[in-house]
Amino acid sequence: PDPLRIGLAGLGTVGVGVIRLLDTNRDLLAARAGRPIELVAVSARDRHRERGIDLSPYGWEDDMAALAQRDDVDVVVELVGGSDGPALTLARAALGAGKPLVTANKAMIAHHGLALAELAEARDVALKFEAAVAGGIPVVKGLREGTSANKLERIYGILNGTCNYILSTMEDTGADFAEVLGEAQAKGYAEADPTFDIEGIDAAHKLAILAAIGFGARIDFDAVRTTGITRVQAADIAQADTLGYVIRLIAMTDVEPDESGAPRLLQRVRPCLVPKSHPLASVDGPTNAVVAEGNFSGRLLFQGAGAGEGPTASAVVADLIDIARDEVGAPFSIPVASLAKMAPAEPGHRMER
Ligand code: NDP
Ligand code: HSE
Repeated sequence: PDPLRIGLAGLGTVGVGVIRLLDTNRDLLAARAGRPIELVAVSARDRHRERGIDLSPYGWEDDMAALAQRDDVDVVVELVGGSDGPALTLARAALGAGKPLVTANKAMIAHHGLALAELAEARDVALKFEAAVAGGIPVVKGLREGTSANKLERIYGILNGTCNYILSTMEDTGADFAEVLGEAQAKGYAEADPTFDIEGIDAAHKLAILAAIGFGARIDFDAVRTTGITRVQAADIAQADTLGYVIRLIAMTDVEPDESGAPRLLQRVRPCLVPKSHPLASVDGPTNAVVAEGNFSGRLLFQGAGAGEGPTASAVVADLIDIARDEVGAPFSIPVASLAKMAPAEPGHRMER
């Protein structure tokens, strides 16, 4: 069978992880996908940067958008980041050229996911973003396919590995916020601009995506009411501990009726006191956990590594296997035109300190 030929933009934590995974699991992937998955060309900012992997077998494009135009590229993988700029240009170029797109970029999907999905639908190509939410946990697929027979009542959980690493490490060691943030950055968990993590914006991006998939609502990132963890101090964590709680950055969404019965979408990210007996209290380090409550499935808990090279690469390559099998699917589980426009249950705000 013909190989699925990949053009990959972004050779940082996740991009390098994808190349390692494609190489290490080559035969297994070919068996699962029904055909080989081959990387043919790459792009990043600095061609000469040492990345600990051999890039000599692959073509190089200085302009990442050129990946989408190459005749030897069947699918484009965007692992650059940023809601706009070159990542968005590449995404539009790929889908516009009728090529499937795989991305881990939650900022781009939260801001432009509907327009990109419309483009993908118009071209009947796949737009896949499993890695954009909760790293290695297959929660996009889990909500889109695993709970598709349910009316979901509520989705909540821990969606940012950096914040969870900071809070749980401060809890365990009493270490200082800035020091632990530096560790999370060194381990590759944090965004290029870690403000997105610690101010709750990254979790808000992910929550907006899950709300769209889970409730069939149009993405409304601006309506996420967001508070980060920058004001949480070691003393708050110690005091919570004596009362039987831990502090976690919790993202939560549900649909509530207004006075006339019309559905309103509630989306909130904020540090919460979690009783030590609750399953989310034992979620430590860069782990994420998502709880989804369906009217027939009952409470489901998805848990695993929410950030880092290997887990995120695992989610990216799972999307590639779907594409190799010609599984297109609707990016938000139903066509964009069918997504409901729901009023926000409360005004959103970002970067509340
Ligand atoms: P990194 O910062 O490690 O890597 C980003 C890559 O993109 C680098 O190779 C960089 O090039 C390249 N790049 C950045 N800006 C430009 C530009 N203007 N032009 C060309 N190339 C550019 O990011 P990550 O690998 O951590 O993240 C990539 C994506 O995956 C992001 O969307 C992130 O949100 C998402 N993600 C990350 C996770 C993680 O755990 N790290 C988990 C889940 C999702 P160069 O190396 O030459 O500077
Ligand atoms: N910066 C993100 C986090 C990466 O810490 O969760 C995974 O999306």
